[in-house]
Amino acid sequence: MIAPRLASLLAVTALAACATTPASDATADDTTGASESSTTATPTTAPDDASSSTGAPIDPDAITYYEHVRPLLARNCVHCHLDGGIAPLALDTYDDAKKFSALIASETAARLMPPYPADNSGDCNTFRDARWLADADIATLAAWHDGGALEGDPATPQPDVPALPTLTGDVRTVVMPEPYTPDADMPDDYRCFVVDNPATGDGDSYITGFDVHPGDPRIVHHVVVFAPNSADAVAEAEAKDAADPGPGYQCFGTSQVSAEIAAAWAPGGGAQRFPDATGVKIQTGGKLVLQVHYNTLAAPGAADTTRVDLAIATEGITAAEFVPLADTGLQLPPGQPSATSSLTTTLADHGYSGLVTVHGVFPHMHLLGRTLHLTANHAGTDHCLVDVPRWDFHWQFLYFYDQPGTLDADDVLFLDCDFDTTTRDVMTQWGEGTGDEMCVAGLWVSKQ
Ligand code: HEC
Repeated sequence: MIAPRLASLLAVTALAACATTPASDATADDTTGASESSTTATPTTAPDDASSSTGAPIDPDAITYYEHVRPLLARNCVHCHLDGGIAPLALDTYDDAKKFSALIASETAARLMPPYPADNSGDCNTFRDARWLADADIATLAAWHDGGALEGDPATPQPDVPALPTLTGDVRTVVMPEPYTPDADMPDDYRCFVVDNPATGDGDSYITGFDVHPGDPRIVHHVVVFAPNSADAVAEAEAKDAADPGPGYQCFGTSQVSAEIAAAWAPGGGAQRFPDATGVKIQTGGKLVLQVHYNTLAAPGAADTTRVDLAIATEGITAAEFVPLADTGLQLPPGQPSATSSLTTTLADHGYSGLVTVHGVFPHMHLLGRTLHLTANHAGTDHCLVDVPRWDFHWQFLYFYDQPGTLDADDVLFLDCDFDTTTRDVMTQWGEGTGDEMCVAGLWVSKQ
C-alpha cells in the first residue's frame, strides 16, 4: 500500500461507521455499584462475579423484574427499546419484558444484544463506553426467565440511569437542507446530503465531538459525517446531488467522494467526543457530507430531517485521522463457509514514521463478513488490536480503547477477515457495491 492510495481509501474507511455512546466519560465511573459498566471489567473480575449490585449472591428463585431486571434493562437496553425507538420491541414495562423474557435471555447469552460485535472481555482490549454486559448480568437475565419472569414489587424505586452525555464548548449545528422520505422499496437506503461546514474564522479547525439528532428515530439507523478533502471533492458531491432526483444522492457505503470521517453515530447514545483531545482537521468554509443510513422497515413512508451538532475547537487539539488498513486485492471464491482475506502492512506503508499513538479502531466489512482480527507485532510481541467474533454489517462502531497504545510505524500489522460466500456463485471482489466485499480496519492514530 502506498501513499497515493490513501485519499480514496480514507473515504472507503468511512463506510457505515457508527459510534457507540451509551455513557459519557463523565458518567463512566459512576456505576453506582451496578455491574452494567464494562469499562471497568477485567478478565480477573468479570467472569465469576456472580453477585448482585449489593454484593450478595443472587438466589435464582428470587430474581424479580423490579428489583433486578428493570435496572439492567434501563441501563443497557431501553434507550433503543422503547416506543418510537430504533428497536422493534419495547422493553420498558414489566408486561413487555416478561413477554420477551426468553428472547432477552437468549439474545444476551449469545451476546447479540446489546449490539456490540467486538470482544470487550479484556482478551483483546476493553473499549471506552462499551455496550457490554458483565457475565453476571447475563446470568441474572437467564435466571429471571428460568424462574418464571417474576414481577416483584412495583414500588421499588426507579433505577438510577446515568444521563446521556452532552457536548460543551463551541457547538455548531448542521441540518439536512430539506426533509427526505427514504425509498421504502429498498429497506436500506443510504443517502448523502451536502451541507455547509459550520467552522468559521481563520486557521485550522477541528471537529472534536458530535451529537446526532435523528429526525425520525424509527428509521435513522446510523449517520456518518464526511469532510471532503478538496474543492474538487465538494464539487463532485454537489454534482451527484444535482444529478439524483430528490434531496441528496444515493451513496451505499461511503460518501462516494474523497473525504475523511468527521463523525460516526449509531442510535442509543448521547454525544461522543474523540478521545485524548484528538480531532479531525476541517477546512474553513466549504462543505460537509452527511450520510444517513435509513432502515425503513419500522416506518415505511416516514420523512426525516436529521441534524448533527458538531463540537469545534481551534486550539489544544492533536490532529488524528483514520488510517485505512485494507486488503484491496481481496478475492473470495464462491460457495465457501469460510473464505479468508489477509493483509500484512505497516503504518510506514501509509506515510508514518517514528512512534504513533493508536486511540481506536473501526473495523469494516460488508454483508458476507463473519469475523475480523487485527494484530500488531510490537517489540517482538504480538498484540491484539481488535477482535470481532460476530461481524454484523448493521452494527458498525468506532471502538476507542480504554488505554490508547503506542506503535512504531515499522511494526508489522496483520489483518485477517473471514467471510461466508455460500450464497454466491461467482468470485466476490473488493468494491463499494452491496455485492462487493471489503476487509478494512481503520486505525484512529496521531503522531507522537
Ligand atoms: C443500540 C440500540 C439497542 C440496544 C442498546 C439494545 N438493542 Fe435490542 N435490538 C435493537 C434493534 C435495532 C433490534 C432489531 C434487530 C437488529 O437490528 O439487530 C433489536 C432486537 C432485539 C431483540 C429481538 C431479537 C429477535 O430475534 O427478534 C431482543 C430480544 C433484544 N433486542 C433485546 C435487547 C436487550 C435485552 C438489550 C439490553 C441488554 C438490548 N436489546 C439492547 C437495538 C438495541
